Amino acid sequence: MRNKMLAPSILSADFADLGNECRATLDAGADMLHLDVMDGHFVPNLTMGSALCKSLKQAIPTAFLDVHMMVDSPADYIGAFAGGGADHYTFHIEAEPDPRAVAEAVHEAGMTAGLAINPPTEVDAILPFLKPFEMILVMSVNPGFSGQSFIEEVLEKTRKISERLRPDQRLEMDGGVSAKTAPACRKAGCDLLVAASAIFGTGDYAEAVAALRGPSHKVVRSL
Ligand code: DX5
Ligand code: ZN
Repeated sequence: MRNKMLAPSILSADFADLGNECRATLDAGADMLHLDVMDGHFVPNLTMGSALCKSLKQAIPTAFLDVHMMVDSPADYIGAFAGGGADHYTFHIEAEPDPRAVAEAVHEAGMTAGLAINPPTEVDAILPFLKPFEMILVMSVNPGFSGQSFIEEVLEKTRKISERLRPDQRLEMDGGVSAKTAPACRKAGCDLLVAASAIFGTGDYAEAVAALRGPSHKVVRSL
């Protein structure tokens, strides 16, 4: 079985102290950093861009940067994020009519590619497109904000996707993941969990990371 991984979403970090916040979560045993990019169109919030990605890569060159694009026209930002040192680029099926072409462009830019699906979107919408992606991301909240409650109904969809993935493809869950909900995510087939408030909202990152990771797995800093 593949190693289970944990990606802190820096959306709930202290932005005024971001480098230290990121180092602290990696030192606490997290595998990679999850960057939530929002454009105010695809989701009703604005967050971060490629300049922030670049600064983080310069500050922590060994950190694997898992970029989650919650934007319209995701192909438009591939060059900027590749240039900013992103390692992985996930975009949404709801935002892109031709996911295969965008996956190819992401690969040409030197990043691994991910395809995300929102809670209201039927699983059949994503199944024909799984093949070229290194990772599939199931959203377990409606994207836009950290700190929302886990939507259990997405577990069924997660199982269906999991059954169809190759052993070399990762399945990521994002939204409302906590020590309480993480076991159900893993049981449904996820091997990569994202968490913002369950880490940055706590006083002890090592304790939070250990609780989310579950039974011991060694740290892996790539997909
Ligand atoms: C939501 C983002 C998530 C979010 C997770 O749109 O994609 O990554 O930061 O936050 P929590 O873990 O607090 O639900
Ligand atoms: Zn995310």
